[in-house]
Amino acid sequence: MTDAVLSLRGVGKDYGKRTAVGTIDLEVRRGEIFGLLGPNGAGKTTTISIACGVIAPTRGTVEIGGIALATAPRQAKQKLGLVPQDLAIYEELSATQNLRYFGALYGLRGAVLAERIAWALGAVGLAERAAEPVKQYSGGMKRRCNLAAGLLHRPELVILDEPTVGVDPQSRNHIFDTIRALRRDHGMTVVYVSHYMEEVEALCDRVAIVDRGAIVALGTIEELVAAHAGKGFELELAGDAAAARAAATAHGAVSGDGAVLRLVPTGALAPAIAAIEATGARITSLTSRGTNLEAAFLALTGHALRDGGP
Ligand SMILES: Nc1ncnc2c1ncn2[C@@H]1O[C@H](COP(=O)(O)OP(=O)(O)O)[C@@H](O)[C@H]1O
Ligand SMILES: [Mg+2]
Repeated sequence: MTDAVLSLRGVGKDYGKRTAVGTIDLEVRRGEIFGLLGPNGAGKTTTISIACGVIAPTRGTVEIGGIALATAPRQAKQKLGLVPQDLAIYEELSATQNLRYFGALYGLRGAVLAERIAWALGAVGLAERAAEPVKQYSGGMKRRCNLAAGLLHRPELVILDEPTVGVDPQSRNHIFDTIRALRRDHGMTVVYVSHYMEEVEALCDRVAIVDRGAIVALGTIEELVAAHAGKGFELELAGDAAAARAAATAHGAVSGDGAVLRLVPTGALAPAIAAIEATGARITSLTSRGTNLEAAFLALTGHALRDGGP
């Protein structure tokens, strides 16, 4: 048996007749940075909300650090820190005041609370601005304060839901450094939820690709790319690109925009080329692009990640 910090077994959620998450099985191993990658609406937040006990699953079971969430919720939740997608901090309060409030919710008091607040502020790089009201912060600083709130009780497992939405690149890098330090210096396990391919590629040891409420692939980036991305192509078109795109759809998964067409053919490439050329469009360049997670995602889901976005 692996040393799983988080186990989801057959977890799913229906809203009425609508299935938000089908059936998800997942084991997050101790010490890894695990990515949950998928387009908006894929079911990522629903899945981790179930994992954290924020919403009840329609089916399936959750274990956190070997403790069943359904039978010992308090004990299980104590092992986990959730950094939610929507900021959960008070704008009128300072970072320190916010952390005092959240620390108290975790049952921290007195000297221990003060020590944890100082530590968390340091970890996210907010120590110097900690006395200012959060409303004066940049988007990135608010995100970092939100992150600090999820760390106060020193959880074994930190789950971050889209922690870089609306932040500047500098804050984003800061958040990445913080996540790496949490693992390196504090042995924490991290689940990183995002619809940004590059972030997951840069940060995560293993990745589950989520699409339409299901995990469509799971592995290291190298494994996913080797298994699924091997046969992607990028074509540049002259002429009626829209017609060419429409013709290519019959021969594989298509993405890209303007004169660029990305294709993962279902069979051989030649019939796809013939179909494109039959529309009158000309192919001005053709390159193989089977080397990244984006190509794997396209091959697995039949659509580009950003197509699912807002
Ligand atoms: N409370 C809810 N009631 C009804 N449908 C919901 C609710 N929450 C989420 N959904 C639906 O479930 C699906 C998955 O949503 P979500 O888990 O938020 O996706 P993601 O985090 O990957 O963007 C979406 O189609 C969403 O509209
Ligand atoms: Mg979400």
